[in-house]
Amino acid sequence: MLSTRLARRALGGARQGYAPLTQRSRTFATQSYDSLVAFGQKHVTKGLGRQVEGVMVKGEGSYVTFGDGKRFLDFTSGIGVTNLGHCHPKVSAAAAQQCMELVHGQCSIGFTTPYLQLIEKLIPMMPDKSLDSFFFWNSGSEAIDAAIKMARAMTGKQNIIGMQGAYHGRTYGAMALTKSKTVYTEGFHPLMPGAYSLPFPYWHHLGTPVSTSSAELSAASLNQLNLLLQQQSAPGDTAAILIEPVLGEGGYIPAPHEFLEGVRKICDENGILLIIDEVQSGFGRTGKNFNIEYSGVRPDILTCAKGLANGFPLSGIVSRKELTDKLNPGSMGGTYAGNAVSCAAAVAVADAFKSENILANVQARSTELFDALHAVKSNPTTREVILDVRGQGLMVAVEFASPTGTGEYDPFRKPGTPARLASRVAKRCQEKGMLILTTSVYEVIRFIPPLNISSEDLKKGTQIFTEAVEEVVREG
Ligand SMILES: Cc1ncc(COP(=O)(O)O)c(C=O)c1O
Repeated sequence: MLSTRLARRALGGARQGYAPLTQRSRTFATQSYDSLVAFGQKHVTKGLGRQVEGVMVKGEGSYVTFGDGKRFLDFTSGIGVTNLGHCHPKVSAAAAQQCMELVHGQCSIGFTTPYLQLIEKLIPMMPDKSLDSFFFWNSGSEAIDAAIKMARAMTGKQNIIGMQGAYHGRTYGAMALTKSKTVYTEGFHPLMPGAYSLPFPYWHHLGTPVSTSSAELSAASLNQLNLLLQQQSAPGDTAAILIEPVLGEGGYIPAPHEFLEGVRKICDENGILLIIDEVQSGFGRTGKNFNIEYSGVRPDILTCAKGLANGFPLSGIVSRKELTDKLNPGSMGGTYAGNAVSCAAAVAVADAFKSENILANVQARSTELFDALHAVKSNPTTREVILDVRGQGLMVAVEFASPTGTGEYDPFRKPGTPARLASRVAKRCQEKGMLILTTSVYEVIRFIPPLNISSEDLKKGTQIFTEAVEEVVREG
């Protein structure tokens, strides 16, 4: 029966109470909604995880509505994608207009106007003038795979060094350098060979106290890098070092500038390329166009995606012409790479960044967010369970203590602390009307609200979070 109903809806038939897909109301009758969810649970592969067993039907700014009528304040932004809010009117209008002009102008056939316009908009936004050669793909993972291929072709070397805790995606190249959780690789070995990793300058990875200075953390990680180059992957075999300037899936940890500067120096001394993955931290997320600007370090290859087109699939791989001229024509590309509609949306995003002064809003809201989270950290009911409040701009995290940590040898485990705090707090926030995500193998909640969120909505979100933490801690 359900298939008939779905077919009717898809055909737009208004008979028997089924509104056409284009005109249907934002909510469903309970019975029909439940059966739609059940249909999805039955037929959508189990390989996809889901936070909410529901169907999203409408997104407006900082809010998303499900088919049962529940409306949530969205502090996930579709995992850092809808950075200008859901269905930003100018971005959606630009995409709609492009739909009527040219949807698919394949990149191996010719250029498209929005593709070139986008490059024109991006050039002045680049963190270094040398970054002047662009290529667009669909997803962040594809951008990482392209960066790996480019680094290998440009240097004639094979190995790539990444970071412990890194997340670069689920395709085979990106997955080999993803070291945040084994769920991404378990059962999928053998992975791409030539992938190595070293500890991120994060106290968990280095086993030092939370209060360890960024200079000390950086020195410890850089020492590990030198060791790796002497023991595992010789500089003569190492094509590139791949780093997220803010470790995302690994726990929202900004890399200290001392670390990034040290890596740049080691790369320069050894003919190794530096790939900076700004898929999540780019496009204003941390208060600058690109996070790497905070350190002033020059990437040889920069990858971006997510916020680039505010939800339309688009990723970018940027390098310098002198390097990309070494690539053979046809060695890069893909059927949908740099789709014209996605590029038109991205042009509108770049325009909105300027006209709506997005970076200033990120700075202002970031201060409010940190103030609210530091208040939770010093609140007598909750302070014992909060280990850390960290991040930059609107890429911010709270790390809770854990009674077990990663196991009996974890020096940071805190017996007596309530278990699974991050996922329980996220669930409680959801019950209170806000979507928020956890991250990493530790007890971490991440805040990625839209970059244009209002002060009122930010306050509403932090109040929900504060109440949720207090309630869950009291329950023990
Ligand atoms: C830093 C980083 N790199 C790469 C990716 C992979 O991007 P995608 O999911 O679009 O393939 C992600 C996704 O979360 C990411 O955060």
